[in-house]
Amino acid sequence: MPATASANIGVVGLAVMGSNLARNLASREGNTVAVFNRSPERTRTLVSEHPEAGFVASESYDDFVASLAKPRTAIIMVQAGKGTDAVISELASRFEPGDIIVDGGNANFHDTIRREAEISPTGIHFVGTGISGGEEGALNGPSIMPGGSAESYETLGPILASIAAVAEGEPCVTHVGTDGAGHFVKMVHNGIEYADMQLIAEAYDLIRQGTGKSPAEIADIFAEWNTGELESYLIEITAEVLRQMDASTGQPLVDVILDEAGAKGTGAWTVQNALDLGVPTSGIAEAVFARSLSSKRAQREASADLPGPSGEWTVADADVDAFVEDVRRALYASKIIAYSQGFDEIIAGAEQFGWDVKKGDIAKIWRAGCIIRARFLNRIAEAYADDPALVALVVAPYFRDAVAGAQESWRRVVAISAQAGIPTPAFSSSLAYYDGLRAPRLPAALVQGQRDFFGAHTYKRVDKPGVFHTLWSGDRSEIETTPSSH
Ligand code: 6PG
Repeated sequence: MPATASANIGVVGLAVMGSNLARNLASREGNTVAVFNRSPERTRTLVSEHPEAGFVASESYDDFVASLAKPRTAIIMVQAGKGTDAVISELASRFEPGDIIVDGGNANFHDTIRREAEISPTGIHFVGTGISGGEEGALNGPSIMPGGSAESYETLGPILASIAAVAEGEPCVTHVGTDGAGHFVKMVHNGIEYADMQLIAEAYDLIRQGTGKSPAEIADIFAEWNTGELESYLIEITAEVLRQMDASTGQPLVDVILDEAGAKGTGAWTVQNALDLGVPTSGIAEAVFARSLSSKRAQREASADLPGPSGEWTVADADVDAFVEDVRRALYASKIIAYSQGFDEIIAGAEQFGWDVKKGDIAKIWRAGCIIRARFLNRIAEAYADDPALVALVVAPYFRDAVAGAQESWRRVVAISAQAGIPTPAFSSSLAYYDGLRAPRLPAALVQGQRDFFGAHTYKRVDKPGVFHTLWSGDRSEIETTPSSH
């Protein structure tokens, strides 16, 4: 049992993410790590398997808290939800003003705001932090997105910087903003992750169906793409997934995996909050819905013989290379849209909840460690450094040029997928969004007319100020009005 308060940091919850994070912390100079898990067997296993870590292990909350030096800092790594509240209350009842409770799970940022509001009157700091990078990232260097008070970051920041991934010499951690900002930004990170994964999956599907290439051959294409502007962790692992053979059947593993995508909820939260904030994150939404559709087995089976193209679409041999290049460009353009939409949501969230989120800093801490790490995050950081008030990422000079170079390919890919009957919801919706942004005039005018017709919801005019309502069924004359009168 720990006799002295010797640990500068503690971890509660020793499943894989928690264990790996604790080992990462212990491996950095200057850290002594206290560990605690509800079932003590897990603690004992971790300690016995990793004597080099010098963990200070406890089997009760009293001992765990006693093992922490002041200000006590503990990172909770339990599954998001009610379990988190239980651990917080155990710690909060033993902690003192100035101590710091960190929630490193994928919590809903609304919960984080609530928890911070409940705890902060006690003088204890509550910090919700996003941690990305999966099990491997937790062990070797994740991207870390802490919220909470600036004061708590003075203590926590150097500890987190010691374990974070490093990109071009800079640790991938920054104080994102107060209370729930860290979990909000992590949520959007995951939404972008969903979009990126779906786009890559659509690219794979088009190449496979259009050219008949094998998964291993497509793996080579992805590996090649990973040497250029698409370079990213997700492209890299896609090549590995596609290359993997199934030991029991000898088939490509991807052909043996059931085509029903799971989801733990952060993508859906991203879309729910985008709807609340009025931000069109259509690429992310389509990615979430594509996972939902994949799991609707009964509907899919009932729809299997609905009419459509025969499925025997083939790209002519002579056109295969050009087609693959079109898909690559369509992927890059759509990916730019996904990130642009994600950053729009971060900007809207920051405005709504009063967070001083620095967009360029977010792009920088996503350059390494996290699941969406990608070469072009440097370009995003530069775009926001050049113009902090940038109205949309896609209009920044670099991205404007990138999309300009890709858009003809993008249109061909979306057109051919529609003709061939291959679903490309993320490619298609990203292109529709892009064209929506660039349209000089949208049919929203007609929607306004319809709204005014059936609900007297009023409209504005292009030629004069004011708010108007037309007497549609009578003499069709127009009256100037105010929205509040309807
Ligand atoms: C990360 C991942 C991580 C987790 C996702 C998976 O950043 O390390 O995003 O948080 O793997 O939550 O989400 P789904 O199960 O919803 O795909």
